Amino acid sequence: MKTILVTGGAGFIGSHTCISLLENNYRLVVIDSYANSSQLNLDVIRELLDNEYSDLSDRFFIFNGDIRDEKFLQDIFEKFKRMEKSIYAVIHFAGLKAVNESISKPLEYWSVNVGGALSLLKIMNQYNCFQIVFSSSATVYDNFFEGILDEKATLNPKNPYGRNKLTIENILNDLYTSQPDLWKIAILRYFNPIGSHPSGKIGELPKKDISNLFPLISQVASGKRDKLQIYGNDWPTIDGTGIRDFIHVMDLADAHLASLKYISNSRSDVYTFNIGTGKGTTVLELIRIFEKVNKCFIPIEFIKRRKGDVACSIANVDFALKELDWFPTRTIEDACRDGWKWQMNN
Ligand code: NAD
Ligand code: UD1
Repeated sequence: MKTILVTGGAGFIGSHTCISLLENNYRLVVIDSYANSSQLNLDVIRELLDNEYSDLSDRFFIFNGDIRDEKFLQDIFEKFKRMEKSIYAVIHFAGLKAVNESISKPLEYWSVNVGGALSLLKIMNQYNCFQIVFSSSATVYDNFFEGILDEKATLNPKNPYGRNKLTIENILNDLYTSQPDLWKIAILRYFNPIGSHPSGKIGELPKKDISNLFPLISQVASGKRDKLQIYGNDWPTIDGTGIRDFIHVMDLADAHLASLKYISNSRSDVYTFNIGTGKGTTVLELIRIFEKVNKCFIPIEFIKRRKGDVACSIANVDFALKELDWFPTRTIEDACRDGWKWQMNN
């Protein structure tokens, strides 16, 4: 059984990926500072999966700490080495992700995102762990070249968060170049993950203010907010609202599993994949689907465009579909249904 270190495993995407990995018989070591989450998702995962058929006591370990703390990381790598369960690969989710906050708190973002990645890579190197799957973002692309983006599209992030992600990508490339026979690296550029695990028992429970569309739609539907403000109805799209490539978070979770297997079976290299569905949906279309599937009403108000937004962002996923043994299987309807279940449980 392979031991995988999952940083940021208590968060939205991390917790869903933990489920996929545990269901596929990996041993997980989760690290999280709970800066934007709590242990709740991890406790629920244990509840969901720990039954007479699947004993998690020897394969689901949770550590509360900061990825910048090298001693903390070292102790964990050492502990599992001593147990003869050395960490085989890392999936690195931990980080801060709010674009606006990254503009007001750049030092914190550079410290956690880039400083954290540096500490992690240093300790991985020290323990001969050379396989990593890294959470990057579509935000690294130049939003001037909007539309359907492939991995070779121009990179030019416009905010500190995006520049953090691109810097980490550059560090990973440099690291590979320095030891080309060792490192196996998958950089996943996520488009727009939405929804929750179909049980409705785990999902996004951020401590920080929410600014992404899907959790806001859920909150309006539940009455927590009185309306959804839509940033612009004058975009050059069929209904004037922005187009995004929304992907069910469980499909995104499965992409991590596929990437892990892929790098494990491939020669050393840096592999960069867009992870989305290749299909665009407008903001209004998403709202209408949510209303239809969940039989609810979402009051909306159009306001002016949000600074930094683009009309259209869709992934060209040809490379991922060709190389990874993976393709998205869930629909937007599934994501709306599952996300709503999670909202109702909370
Ligand atoms: P999230 O905030 O739910 O998860 C991140 C986790 O990292 C949280 O549990 C948080 O507590 C933890 N964390 C933060 N700082 C830490 C630190 N210093 N040490 C240890 N743990 C720390 O976010 P998410 O949506 O699950 O995103 C996961 C990753 O994917 C992030 O790197 C994010 O930038 C990236 N990403 C997310 C999206 C998206 O739409 N959600 C899109 C593109 C990329
Ligand atoms: C945003 C970030 C991006 C990050 C991604 C995932 C910005 C400019 N971009 O992308 O860097 O990688 O989240 O975390 O912040 N919308 C509304 N009303 C709302 C919220 C959103 O109309 O209250 C619209 C937006 O204008 C956009 C779409 O919904 O057209 C999706 O927005 P969002 O969920 O914030 O994702 P992105 O803008 O794609």
